[in-house]
Amino acid sequence: MSGPRTSDQGALAGALARPARGAEVELFIESLAYGGEGVARYGEGGYVIFVAGAIPGDRVRAHVYKAKRAYAHARTLQLLEPSPERIAPVAPHPGAPWQVLPYERQLEVKSAQVQEALVRIGGLAGFELQPILPAAERWRYRNKIELSFGSDEQGALVLGFHAPARWNRVVGIEDCLLASERVNRALRAVAAWAAGQGLRAWQRSVGTPAQPAAVPADGRARLRNLVLREGRRSGTLQARLVTTPGEIELAGFIAALQGALGEEELSGVLWSRSDRLAETTAGGATELLHGSSELSERLGGLTFRIGPEAFFQTNTEMAEVLYSVAGELAQLQGGELLFDLYCGLGSIGLFLAERVREVVGIELEESAVAGARRAAAENGIEHATFYAGEARRLLGAVLERHGRPDVVVVDPPRAGLGRRAVEALIAIAPARVVYVSCNPTTLAADAARMCEAGYALRQVRPVDMFPQTHHIECVAALERSS
Ligand SMILES: C[S@@+](CC[C@H](N)C(=O)[O-])C[C@H]1O[C@@H](n2cnc3c(N)ncnc32)[C@H](O)[C@@H]1O
Repeated sequence: MSGPRTSDQGALAGALARPARGAEVELFIESLAYGGEGVARYGEGGYVIFVAGAIPGDRVRAHVYKAKRAYAHARTLQLLEPSPERIAPVAPHPGAPWQVLPYERQLEVKSAQVQEALVRIGGLAGFELQPILPAAERWRYRNKIELSFGSDEQGALVLGFHAPARWNRVVGIEDCLLASERVNRALRAVAAWAAGQGLRAWQRSVGTPAQPAAVPADGRARLRNLVLREGRRSGTLQARLVTTPGEIELAGFIAALQGALGEEELSGVLWSRSDRLAETTAGGATELLHGSSELSERLGGLTFRIGPEAFFQTNTEMAEVLYSVAGELAQLQGGELLFDLYCGLGSIGLFLAERVREVVGIELEESAVAGARRAAAENGIEHATFYAGEARRLLGAVLERHGRPDVVVVDPPRAGLGRRAVEALIAIAPARVVYVSCNPTTLAADAARMCEAGYALRQVRPVDMFPQTHHIECVAALERSS
């Protein structure tokens, strides 16, 4: 197949080394990059353009919204010729862009991206890439969704997800196919309540750091987000509305949720007020309006109580698979001291607790540490201790108190461990490190640092926690070899 070429600029195309920001270009998509965008090459120099909303084999007309020296980003405006691989989408959903790829192909791409990151970024070799474990459910698997309020082209309120690569455009949704029917009932009830009240979305484009968007130009333009979280095993739901600061009448909000859900189903209703400029549901002051501030969930036979901002794996069923893989790769014999770093509610360590002598967890968020301690107590696990603080700073002191760990499980955020945390880990010299990663590119960099210091990467197992999306989870085992 021929390479990409410009449409409108015609003969100019060959002469242009790269398109300017704002240009419309015709592109052929060659592959998928980590992060989910299609990759096209432009002009004779093969300038790389990452294209949102396209898959390999598509020919698209795309709008370039960011152009740098080495590469650009564009979003698909029109599908000119669909890839032979494309399948019909189940329903429009900005959060499920890979639904146009057959599921088997999604798995292949994810596995290949893990391999590629480890080899190309990490320069790693000699490890066993185990077959990716597919998800138990391909749809309606998420236990948490974060919705945004916005407005449509007529200015009417919508509640949904951001369009790909569009910070200020929200696509309304009535049935999110990644979440359960229960979650969707709550979503529709809140959307109807908000529209009925004449409330509108906050004005995303108004703010500056000196004058935050939270100072509303219009007293009714207050709505930022709705976070819905579900205890899949407990059959309960927690709803948190995020608005800009100031007073707002919320009796109808609670009543709408009560009308949509049975009494037993509605676990808690919360309200956060935030003046942050960033598009985030974190931070701000949170108030409990109804029920409990914690959602109960069962995982691996254990009960956890999840606070409104605590991290919890978003695919409950696949979290059990992920943790089982971590257990397998840890090769536990029963007598180990296991450190669980970046432990959140302690779920990995507690899941593995019956197979080890002692569990020690470290987590930055104090509220999560309190949750981990309570989960240990409520589940009758006495040989688990949790500390609050930065993993790399606490490791030395924890080592002195508990001794050298046989196995360390790490599960850092997307940014990975980073150089200093890797150094701290190397300094305590565990025989085995099991790295649970939601970003193979940072895993690759961290694993490479560990291999330079005498570890060997042995096995890597991708686990698909997020069908229809580009998100990749995997577990890697590293062993001290010198
Ligand atoms: C991907 S989550 C994993 C949580 C847990 N292992 C699980 O499976 O639910 C990462 C966790 O790391 C915590 N965290 C972030 N930076 C940290 C740091 N420097 N030290 C310790 N914990 C940190 C976050 O608060 C979050 O709970």
